[in-house]
Amino acid sequence: MKNVLKHLIPEPAIAALRGMEADLKLRRETVHQMKRFRRNYARRGSMRQAHLETRIIFFTHQIEKGLSHTDFRYGFGKGVLAQLSPLLESLRRIDTDIAHNDVYQTAISSLHEYRVRHEAEDYDLSYAKAMFSAQVWDEAAATQDRTGGDLVIRAADKTDNAKLTFSELMEVRHSVREFADAPISVDEIMPAVRTAMRTPSVCNRQPTRVHIITNPDLIRKAMPLQGGFRGYPLPPALLLITGDNQAMMNQDERNECYTDGGLFGMSLLLALEEQGIAACPLNTMLPMQRDEATRSLLGIPDGEFLVMYIAVGHFAEEVKTCKSQRFDADTIVTVHS
Ligand SMILES: Cc1cc2nc3c(=O)[nH]c(=O)nc-3n(C[C@H](O)[C@H](O)[C@H](O)COP(=O)(O)O)c2cc1C
Repeated sequence: MKNVLKHLIPEPAIAALRGMEADLKLRRETVHQMKRFRRNYARRGSMRQAHLETRIIFFTHQIEKGLSHTDFRYGFGKGVLAQLSPLLESLRRIDTDIAHNDVYQTAISSLHEYRVRHEAEDYDLSYAKAMFSAQVWDEAAATQDRTGGDLVIRAADKTDNAKLTFSELMEVRHSVREFADAPISVDEIMPAVRTAMRTPSVCNRQPTRVHIITNPDLIRKAMPLQGGFRGYPLPPALLLITGDNQAMMNQDERNECYTDGGLFGMSLLLALEEQGIAACPLNTMLPMQRDEATRSLLGIPDGEFLVMYIAVGHFAEEVKTCKSQRFDADTIVTVHS
């Protein structure tokens, strides 16, 4: 019967019916996905351990960013410390083995660095001391953990990057947020883009697009809309990675641009590092208004989803960046045997 109908109904009508069915599915499945997200993301106020740890990592990262600024601002991060303190106390209450909680220990380690940097200049930390329990404040003084804080990146260490193995390249790449003053050209960036073209994509449909922005006026207007790069000088160039939804074929592929674009982004970051070019991925998780403003500023076609920016430039002689300690691989693996 189905086959008979298929022969009787013209293809445009079948396509139109399938299209209506797909629209309904798209709505249903997007809502289903939204509900799963809503049930699980780390909302403010949640006492679930995983949520506390997520928020602690976020605030630890803010401290590390503050510590790594060339233009170090004494007394920075009061709002961050105020949010971090109750989270650390809550985690201490929940986790009976806090001494082996890596997220907690890295946060304490960053706090240690915060104390050391300020105390070295006799900066009055009474505001910070008042925010933390005596226990946490003392732990921050005494800890031997050095997984938090900042590390130094030197241009001189990057000259032989092309000779490194893949594992070595992974090890030495770090997000760099401050660059040499010299501009960077499209010609200097393109070899890395060409390398990243070997990135796999769904059915080889290659949805990823790269917008290279070197116009300082556009960069100056785009960065405040991005929002996650405040306090740093503007980068010499900005790459915007997008995914073209014209490469997608049905509702099940509605997130595929992000997967493929994310893979491409990582390839590009490593290729830039191999070329001795400094880079920092920057999120484009923009609320609607800023998303639209970015699109119209940069003339991004309607069909493209924004996947991420990458700030790029030449390595400065010496800058600091966040340590960004990673989880132990064993802790993220589940073996289904
Ligand atoms: C998708 C994505 C978005 C990011 N967004 C920002 C951002 O808005 N601002 C920022 O300073 N860093 C941003 N980062 C950089 C991360 O902070 C950094 O990758 C992380 O701390 C790990 O450090 P590493 O890149 O030095 O290994 C982003 C990274 C990724 C992958």
